[in-house]
Amino acid sequence: MRTPKLLLVLALLASGAQAQNREVNIICSAQAAWCSMIAVTFEKSQGIKVNMTAKGSGEAIAQLAAEKANPKTDIWFGGTGDPHLQAAEQNLSLEYKSPTLPKLHDWAQKQAAQAGFKTVGIYSGPLGFGYNTELLAKKKLPVPKTWGDLLKPEYKGEIQSANPASSGTAYTMIATLVQLMGEEKAFEYLKGLHKNIGTYTRSGTGPIKAVARGETAVSISFVHDGPGEKAQGFPIETITPSDGTGAEIGSMSIVRGSRNLEAAKKFYEWALTPAAQELAAATLQFQLPSHKEAKVDPRVPDFRKIKMINYDYAKYGQTAERRRLIQRWEKEVNSLPR
Ligand code: G6P
Repeated sequence: MRTPKLLLVLALLASGAQAQNREVNIICSAQAAWCSMIAVTFEKSQGIKVNMTAKGSGEAIAQLAAEKANPKTDIWFGGTGDPHLQAAEQNLSLEYKSPTLPKLHDWAQKQAAQAGFKTVGIYSGPLGFGYNTELLAKKKLPVPKTWGDLLKPEYKGEIQSANPASSGTAYTMIATLVQLMGEEKAFEYLKGLHKNIGTYTRSGTGPIKAVARGETAVSISFVHDGPGEKAQGFPIETITPSDGTGAEIGSMSIVRGSRNLEAAKKFYEWALTPAAQELAAATLQFQLPSHKEAKVDPRVPDFRKIKMINYDYAKYGQTAERRRLIQRWEKEVNSLPR
């Protein structure tokens, strides 16, 4: 009698596991159109249901930390790499060495290696400025060309940035400035910039969307978000500061304790294929894809033409460093009157 019972239990467990792997829960920190496109395409082609939640990089890691004991998420797709490294350090993500790794650009492989293979680079894009050509002309404002230009009094109230507590884009800005100028000078700079900021938005793309729609003249943004707005007919251009800038390594991680691990790995592998990565440009997202064979749309920013700093991803992805810099920004910059 014992054996059949045991078999029944095993069969039930197996069918439970199968049922579990019929869906995958994803937090997506890229733009909504891309998130929806990957959800629909993966679901249709692989027959695995996708439950997708949109969250900025900072908010995503906060949710994963809160769910640590009882994870409800299987995959964290996209968003800047720093919090993915932080998730790896906090053991919120699972080590997984994809067989596709050698086919990815060095920067994407390096991102994986320095996280003990708990994350991987899926795209990259440089930080710079967005500006509304009509608004600048109307207000007789010049195009800002350097970080220093943004401090000029004529830009008072005309610049938007995201808030680093919720946005990976804004944290990339702080980390970039610290590496470019040294920490003390960078914080002096951020205090000066604060005077010219009209609004700090929650999400990283808020400012460039505001620029596109003529709500503000200038934004501090990933420049790959510009061409998508322009393609929708908005009068927007982008520029990278001639004194140097940083870039994000958009990343993807499997959540430790994922209840749909098989489905999560299937999604992960699919997301690294050139075909899946090319869905970005199909939804007007112009980051550089991490798979070497993925087609590069001509609207993807050309890194060879941009003065890039040698961004220390390992250092600025550390929990303590990230927390310290954001707290310092809150205390010394965000608390100041504007
Ligand atoms: C946009 C960009 C992505 C970036 C993300 C970061 O979606 O297109 O390249 O990774 O913003 O979002 P966040 O809200 O955390 O700054």
